[in-house]
Amino acid sequence: MRIIQVEERDKRGYMDLLLLADEQENMIEKYLYRGEMFALYDDDLRAIAVVTDEGGGDFEIKNIATVPAYQRMGYGKALIEHIVRQHRESGRTLYVGTGDSPLTLGFYGRCGFVHSHTVKNFFVDNYDRPIVEDGKQLVDMIYLKREL
Ligand SMILES: CC(C)(COP(=O)(O)OP(=O)(O)OC[C@H]1O[C@@H](n2cnc3c(N)ncnc32)[C@H](O)[C@@H]1OP(=O)(O)O)[C@@H](O)C(=O)NCCC(=O)NCCS
Repeated sequence: MRIIQVEERDKRGYMDLLLLADEQENMIEKYLYRGEMFALYDDDLRAIAVVTDEGGGDFEIKNIATVPAYQRMGYGKALIEHIVRQHRESGRTLYVGTGDSPLTLGFYGRCGFVHSHTVKNFFVDNYDRPIVEDGKQLVDMIYLKREL
């Protein structure tokens, strides 16, 4: 298994996988170029993540996705552990914002994140169409955090 940091010019090549975690391309473009992108390979591509520096020691995972055929095999968690190791010296807290969906909240809980705060109506205010996950429309953004 190897994790690489993706060069600026190669980032768009991962768009299909980025869209799995965030279905609106113009929302992805808001953070793609100011963030660092990591790609995990195990033979072929397994998972990607984008992390931004929010200042004051705060970092945020803006996007994380594992190729569907390789989900639940530990790749998402391995990427998060890599991000934590990479930012431990300069960072204080790693945040992630997600919809109120048991699918993603379960994953982040297993990766050591706890509840931080909620941004009311984030998904209805920022996306053109309703975002539905697991049959439920997402409304508020739930922020979780893990100390670095
Ligand atoms: C969320 C996602 C990135 C998880 O990646 P993954 O590679 O499948 O996760 P892992 O195999 O590393 O799982 C790590 C832990 O979380 C648990 N987990 C993973 N998915 C879970 C789920 N849907 N519900 C509950 N727990 C889950 C695993 O069982 C594992 O637990 P363990 O450490 O006790 O064994 C992946 O499901 C995905 O790409 N989903 C679509 C995109 C998406 O929704 N991204 C998040 C946007 S906020």
